[in-house]
Amino acid sequence: MSKLQSKIASGNLLATINGPVGVGKTSLIAVAGYRLHQEFLQGEAPLIPLRAPLPLHASETVSSFERKLCYELADAFIEHRDALKKRGYHFPNPNDVRGWLRNPVWRTRGLGGSAAGTGAQYTRGSSGTSSPGYVEFGLPNTLSAWLHDCFRGGEAGGFVCTIDNLELIWQNRQLQSVLESLRDSAFSQPGLRWVLCGAEQVVRTLAATTRLHGRMDDPIDLNPIGDDQIGNLIEKRHEAYTRDRQAKPVPLLGPEEFLFLYDKLGKSLRDSLRYADSFSGWAHRTGTHARTDVLRDWLIERGAEHYHDASFRVKPRGWKLFDDLVAAGGLCTYSQHKEFGFPKDGPMREQMQKLLYANLVRAETVPGSRRHSLTVTPLGRLVKMAMSSPLVQPLHYSPTQANR
Ligand SMILES: Nc1ncnc2c1ncn2[C@@H]1O[C@H](COP(=O)(O)OP(=O)(O)OP(=O)(O)O)[C@@H](O)[C@H]1O
Ligand SMILES: [Mg+2]
Repeated sequence: MSKLQSKIASGNLLATINGPVGVGKTSLIAVAGYRLHQEFLQGEAPLIPLRAPLPLHASETVSSFERKLCYELADAFIEHRDALKKRGYHFPNPNDVRGWLRNPVWRTRGLGGSAAGTGAQYTRGSSGTSSPGYVEFGLPNTLSAWLHDCFRGGEAGGFVCTIDNLELIWQNRQLQSVLESLRDSAFSQPGLRWVLCGAEQVVRTLAATTRLHGRMDDPIDLNPIGDDQIGNLIEKRHEAYTRDRQAKPVPLLGPEEFLFLYDKLGKSLRDSLRYADSFSGWAHRTGTHARTDVLRDWLIERGAEHYHDASFRVKPRGWKLFDDLVAAGGLCTYSQHKEFGFPKDGPMREQMQKLLYANLVRAETVPGSRRHSLTVTPLGRLVKMAMSSPLVQPLHYSPTQANR
């Protein structure tokens, strides 16, 4: 937390966070932003987070992203006006900001211009050259000047902007060029501080292989919360839910049961909390005592449902590959095809594709290479629990008969 806060405060490079899916990355950024904002209110430098991370959509272009950013920044100026004023920062008049927001000139800028990435061919949406000054690339001059003036050329601080879930670029490689184009516009804008965050090693890959090299700080690696902290986590969460609420919350699992769940789901906090929530609700409704053995049977039932659903797609050879992958520690690459009984990598990919579709396995790009690492997901772990249970009938599959 303090590392992230100090990287945002120093502001020289883009702060970056890397960590497994569901480990708590987004929460860490939100809490760091909240703390920096509180510190500003108590007299420290103005480091003020935007209301939420800026979403990156699969069809994002540079202009659509910049437009979204402009709206958020204008809102931020209006929202934090009083605090900035009180501390003697030069902020734009809210009426000017509102008028500027309504001005169609900047809003239509770039529509019909170069789509993703090159940044070189923006068109103006109108021939108007009135109040908002223009640059062909980057944030509109008016907004840029407001940020510059308010945050004293960026030296004093800035609005903290986050782009989360960068792993989306694996689905649409155009997004990589969108990010690269932002390097010389939004990412270099005085008065803005940036945090980029992603799972699946995307941050490292971006830093190693793109034009952003040299602009991105070394990532902060966020690891799963240690087992010894789980008791504390449960207690804090219970406290948070109980505070300021009329209704009494359904008690969460105790630390021992939660730890069991956390371990079974490969230490994904997101999935563990989701299943804990669902299990607690069920236990409460049915008046069942939330013991570990009851939880185990409940998880096996959930796993069996997914096992059944996945069996429409995954056939015996695929299930054998899945079984072997779990036995090998839940992680492999296609280059290991022989170890998994495939003379070539093609047939292994074919079977793996079905496991990927069924969300039993996840593919991640290995930084600095074109290879993929394949990891069993929390859902895959649940399915494996069911497959290993004598309570669940094997579907079309037994480990000895699956050669095809
Ligand atoms: N330190 C923490 N203590 C308690 N709960 C936490 C903590 N950090 C995160 N959580 C909870 O864990 C869940 C997952 O957190 P979060 O969404 O931040 O993870 P993430 O790494 O951003 O996930 P994803 O990779 O899916 O984006 C959320 O429900 C969040 O409230
Ligand atoms: Mg997240």
